[in-house]
Amino acid sequence: MGRPARSYVGMVIYIDYVNRAGRGLVKVCGIVGVACSGPCSRYFGKPVGLLIKECLLNLEYRGYDSVGFAVYSSGRIVVRKSRGKILEVERKLGFDEFDGAVAIGHTRWATHGEPSDSNAHPHLDCGGGVAVVHNGIIHNYLELREYLRVGGHVFRSETDTEVVPHLLEELIGRGYSTLDALRELARTLKGAYALAVVVSHEPGRIYFIRNVSPLVIGIRDGAVFVASDIPAFLRYTNRVVVLEDGDFGYVSADEIYVENVVRGVVDWRGRVRVVDWTPDMVAKGGYPHFMLKEIHEQPTALRNTLASIPPEVGEAVKAVAKADRVFLTACGTSYHAALVGEYLLNTLCGLNATAFIASEYLRYRKILREGDVLVAVSQSGETIDTLMAVREARKRGAKVVAVANVLFSAIPRESDVAIYTRAGPEIAVAATKTFTAQLAVLLYLATEVARTLGTEDPGYLDLLRREIAALPELAGGAILLHEARIKRLAEKLRDKTNAFYLGRGIGVPVSMEGALKLKEIAYIHAEAYPAGESKHGPIALVEEDFPVLFTVFDDEFKDLLLGNLEEMKSRKAFTVGLVPKGYPDIARRFDFAIEMPKLAPYTAAVLYSIPYQLIAYYTSVAKGLDPDKPRNLAKTVTVE
Ligand code: F6R
Repeated sequence: MGRPARSYVGMVIYIDYVNRAGRGLVKVCGIVGVACSGPCSRYFGKPVGLLIKECLLNLEYRGYDSVGFAVYSSGRIVVRKSRGKILEVERKLGFDEFDGAVAIGHTRWATHGEPSDSNAHPHLDCGGGVAVVHNGIIHNYLELREYLRVGGHVFRSETDTEVVPHLLEELIGRGYSTLDALRELARTLKGAYALAVVVSHEPGRIYFIRNVSPLVIGIRDGAVFVASDIPAFLRYTNRVVVLEDGDFGYVSADEIYVENVVRGVVDWRGRVRVVDWTPDMVAKGGYPHFMLKEIHEQPTALRNTLASIPPEVGEAVKAVAKADRVFLTACGTSYHAALVGEYLLNTLCGLNATAFIASEYLRYRKILREGDVLVAVSQSGETIDTLMAVREARKRGAKVVAVANVLFSAIPRESDVAIYTRAGPEIAVAATKTFTAQLAVLLYLATEVARTLGTEDPGYLDLLRREIAALPELAGGAILLHEARIKRLAEKLRDKTNAFYLGRGIGVPVSMEGALKLKEIAYIHAEAYPAGESKHGPIALVEEDFPVLFTVFDDEFKDLLLGNLEEMKSRKAFTVGLVPKGYPDIARRFDFAIEMPKLAPYTAAVLYSIPYQLIAYYTSVAKGLDPDKPRNLAKTVTVE
């Protein structure tokens, strides 16, 4: 190629995010790499191909339409890849046929280019000397591709990723060291990326670079991992370094080098953390699906979360109590937790609190200011929209409190105060145990704020405190008592195409979450409304046997909801009620009633979410679907 790559970088007029082909799509992929100080089988008792397969299975929640790996073997890089889920194509790929000291692997979630063998990762350069796996989206790939194509590079896929090995080939061919080439790559690529790279002339190393998309290093004697997420290698090590935006470098079996594009050489030793998750936490443990396991783990998740409410909550309480205004932001299920938080802060604490969907944060740009607190809720701690809202709020002088489940992830790292839920790793795409753990944390926070501000009767707050402490046990009881019946209810719901979830007060976000669960894993169109709204339009859809699910708490809205129930019954709807125990007359009025412990609506909100999760799960299973891997969805959304 005629032009030096450096001048190319200067020459191209980058229009930020010119190519937004990937924007708006949900996307993640899982990447992993391992470097051992000899054949992998010597250290792990299995060939490197099998080790990579095992790690990828732990990342499959991040993407599952194609899979592939690259191994350095007999002086060259060998790539095997295919469309399909790992266990569907494992024989074809022959994971067990490859041993070696270094390998990288990938499980894909297609954005650029359909799921196919050629679009699967790893991608190679022209000479076969550079193999790359990637999570993220490179927005300016079309320009780069055109430049490289004109220069003679031949592309074999439709992916954005493939520009990376060719760019590296180009730079290395010009005499750049691989590290210098990565530095250049950081200046050239626009978008989100976590990349793991092997180059054939440095066979013991895996190079990496991270911007926006998550990447962690796992360290054990004689081997080092890089991966999108800790569960990939948790069976082998819990000593991790979480990489930050702009970090790049390499790992080998006995060396780690990390540099940051802005800050220079990084003292990674000071960043080593020991995570307290165990491998059992990421295996299915006898359950048919992760989702069911995670639903059943809620007593433990709640117990661990409540037992380890960290000292940071005290800091958060102070910040929220003296805030001019409180905003809460999140996406999806976490947004429903934020709505519950908003309701708690409004009604228990009398605070001016507003929840907004993180992807809409730009609307609040001019509104957020010093004196405000933003509570950012995110299971993964990596959701890009939530992260952008956090950055904007901090830029505007607001204080940010994060509620996250993944330790040291970007959102808590970039916040002023981090509160962690202790739900353990959540593998199923649909959030369950992390949602109820978020609710428990927000409830605890709100009761403390109410106590500080004196906005609620101390006796009532003590009652709430006792109910919160009982939640783990009550959650176990709710599952035990209702699971079998809910399975039967699912048989009835499986053939439905629509459903309404109605509630009032704090029952509205609980209903919204119930509807989202049914939608996302059972593919039934479900909408939630404040019950009072149902007669302002939605009821027009109700006809015989149309399912309407009511969230009825033992609160001031009970009687109004029963009025709404009658409206639905007179249209011959099929009515399901989550109702408080001790009111047999209420239970009898529903076609199908699930009696829940009689609690204050605030604590009931946590508990009622569980039967809704079970309804969605068993309906999905009754329809023959895979609830762990719903179509078009991915666990962590790192693209705006
Ligand atoms: C739905 C679900 C998603 C996530 C959303 C935010 O079951 O899991 O709606 O809640 O993508 O993710 P986090 O909480 O990781 O920010």
